[in-house]
Amino acid sequence: MTISGNARLAGVMGWPVGHSLSPRLHNYWLDLHGIDGAFVPLPVAPEHFAQALRILPRRGFRGVTVTVAHQAAALQAVDRVDEPARRIGAVNTIIMNEDCTLFGSNSDAYGFRAHLLASIAGYDTSSPAVVIGAGGAARAVAVALADMGAREIRIVNRTLARAEELALALGGAIRVVDWSGRGRALEDTGILVNTTTQGMSGQKPLDLDLATLDRRAVVYDIVYNPIETPLIRAARARGNPTVDGLGMLLHQAEAGFAAWFGVRPEVTEDLRAHVLAGLGGR
Ligand code: ATR
Repeated sequence: MTISGNARLAGVMGWPVGHSLSPRLHNYWLDLHGIDGAFVPLPVAPEHFAQALRILPRRGFRGVTVTVAHQAAALQAVDRVDEPARRIGAVNTIIMNEDCTLFGSNSDAYGFRAHLLASIAGYDTSSPAVVIGAGGAARAVAVALADMGAREIRIVNRTLARAEELALALGGAIRVVDWSGRGRALEDTGILVNTTTQGMSGQKPLDLDLATLDRRAVVYDIVYNPIETPLIRAARARGNPTVDGLGMLLHQAEAGFAAWFGVRPEVTEDLRAHVLAGLGGR
């Protein structure tokens, strides 16, 4: 679509940024809604990140989304943050106000929950949840599960100290399980979530035996490249309901788009197919 001199601007800031699906995603919505706007990739090295954030609103930008490389720095660089960002310890969406102040939010917990509820009708969190991993993504997932009322959230991570750090930061229903105890931790769980990089293209499959997992338990892999990870394939083969990682990416983008471009967008099958096509060959 053609844009005018008054087009609204937003982008994705990362280092690297070439792999990001955000331009494909946001420009689909811009086209669909006929909005005079553009969403561009912004390759910015970490040492220039804070400065770039201050310059962009003075050049007409309404905000940015930031890739994982910048998310912790973004928490420090903005003027105000929302509650999920504070709890998760990272900012993934920045809104640039007219007075050039920066508001940081984190929409990953929302994205995780929205995609889960859209995929599994009537999902309830009364049984314990198991989260594999203890990085930034695990924190967002744990926040989402806690807010959904999960009775117990078991964090299982290869490096125990990181799981303990996460438990200390979030508290509440979180329990730490040693990596060697991960098989037993699955026994009475209602949902298993992989937040590690294992299963991603170029990485080994997640080293986890599903034998002890109830066949009614939901298996959610936040990895979306490939869309069917070895974990999702194994879960499907034994009859577990599964949730892939792409929907989380799509849903987490809704709030930023609405703030920058003034229209609340929708996650549809057509959008999903469009973004999925962008993964081809990676
Ligand atoms: P993010 O912030 O995107 O979640 P991260 O902080 O790099 O990324 O976290 C990656 C997660 O994948 C971590 O939980 C990591 O475990 P460690 O804390 O032990 O490093 C996990 N991970 C990476 N490689 C792994 C492997 N080979 N086996 C098990 N877990 C692995």
